Amino acid sequence: MEQNKLEKIVSLCKRRGFIFPGSEIYGGLRGTWDYGPLGAEMKFNLKQAWWEAVVKSRDDIYGVQAAILMNSKVWEGSGHTETFNDPLIECKICHERCRADDEDGIKFHEGEHTVKKEKVEWTEPKKFNLLVEAKLGVIEGQKSIVFLRGEITQGVHVNFKNVVDSMHPKIPFGIAQIGKAFRNEITPGNFTYRSREFEQIELQWYIKPDEKEWTRWFNYWKEERMNWYLALGMNKDKIHFRQQTSDELAHYAREAWDIEYETPFGWRECEGVHDRSDWDLSRHSKFSGQDLSYFDSETKERFVPWVIETSGGVDRALLFFLLDAYHEDEDRVVLKLHPKLAPYKAAVFPLLKNKPELVEKARGIYQDLKKDFNIAWDDRGNIGKRYYSQDEIGTPCCVTIDFQTLEDETVTIRDRDSMKQERVKVDDLRSIIRSSV
Ligand code: GAP
Repeated sequence: MEQNKLEKIVSLCKRRGFIFPGSEIYGGLRGTWDYGPLGAEMKFNLKQAWWEAVVKSRDDIYGVQAAILMNSKVWEGSGHTETFNDPLIECKICHERCRADDEDGIKFHEGEHTVKKEKVEWTEPKKFNLLVEAKLGVIEGQKSIVFLRGEITQGVHVNFKNVVDSMHPKIPFGIAQIGKAFRNEITPGNFTYRSREFEQIELQWYIKPDEKEWTRWFNYWKEERMNWYLALGMNKDKIHFRQQTSDELAHYAREAWDIEYETPFGWRECEGVHDRSDWDLSRHSKFSGQDLSYFDSETKERFVPWVIETSGGVDRALLFFLLDAYHEDEDRVVLKLHPKLAPYKAAVFPLLKNKPELVEKARGIYQDLKKDFNIAWDDRGNIGKRYYSQDEIGTPCCVTIDFQTLEDETVTIRDRDSMKQERVKVDDLRSIIRSSV
């Protein structure tokens, strides 16, 4: 089951409106994915859960939304034009290109060649820059090259001074952002796991340049971020931390720990906690000529803060939550998603479709709950089929309106995971649903 779980998820995502291949009717565009009605909803829920935990519930973190297109000098300052590279190798026989450090790509390629009984010969690895270029301007021949951001991080660091001057934060403090990033990945693959366009959830946490402070906050953020995944129901046996080796570290990082999830294709990175030291602020200071230091009014010290970064991928987290939630129980497929992430919080059905009084009553309850939650309506087929259909998309509970409802204002509510049914008052539905999300 583990082996083809990814294929089952890909198929469920397409069939039930979670994720479709990008530009599909034109033959697709490799490494791009479109989120359908249920996927968009789930993605929104995931981002909202992150924003709630990292920004809204705290008073020491500020949210921003920077432009995707930035002055090209930003990427020189950040070091990306020079060092945001992956090692690329090319097969001398068929000229297929692959990442030299990508186990999946190489294994697959060797397999192909073994079948053809040809000898695999790779070129020496050469550096391949991952930044995606675009052209901006209205006069042909005078358009300037800009880069689509390779990480959302730089939009935060270039606004460090703006946030300090407008919000007057006391150090330590954070600036958080959610947004799209783009990379010219050599080998996109494993569904949305490695895409060329993806979304990131990031926090840049600014601290005093002090080793003790660093240890305290680095451990704090490692724990916070791991707990976030666990609180959203991720299986604790399938998620762990792994420290990056020195040859894996990005050009800006002194130390990095990855939160990894055990996927059907191995343990894979979901989020990183990175020590970026004063790399970004110092470099942008140098390249822009602006003073990006911080004045601590308590100690009267001026310094360039160090940065601890937590950087996760929305698409990867969504894929890992789907893999984690997927179960085949008896004769049903069920996505045991945390109610916070589930696209619909409940489904409402009339027991019979051809009884106007039941449909009218059910419709009223549906419309009322919809004011507060995303609710599904289903009146097709029999009740059993409707339950299974909702289980497969992770709807935590189903509410059925029957003849007794018309008499005593009660409904049956059926739990997705236990499949148990109980009778509750219509008036209690809102608080029952709210208590789970
Ligand atoms: N600002 C730091 C940074 O960007 P990263 O490890 O390169 O660090 C952070 O990326 C996260 O972004 C990863 O943990 C992953 O979840 C996500 N990510 C990176 N590249 C991706 C890709 N090609 N497709 C999907 N998600 C990706």
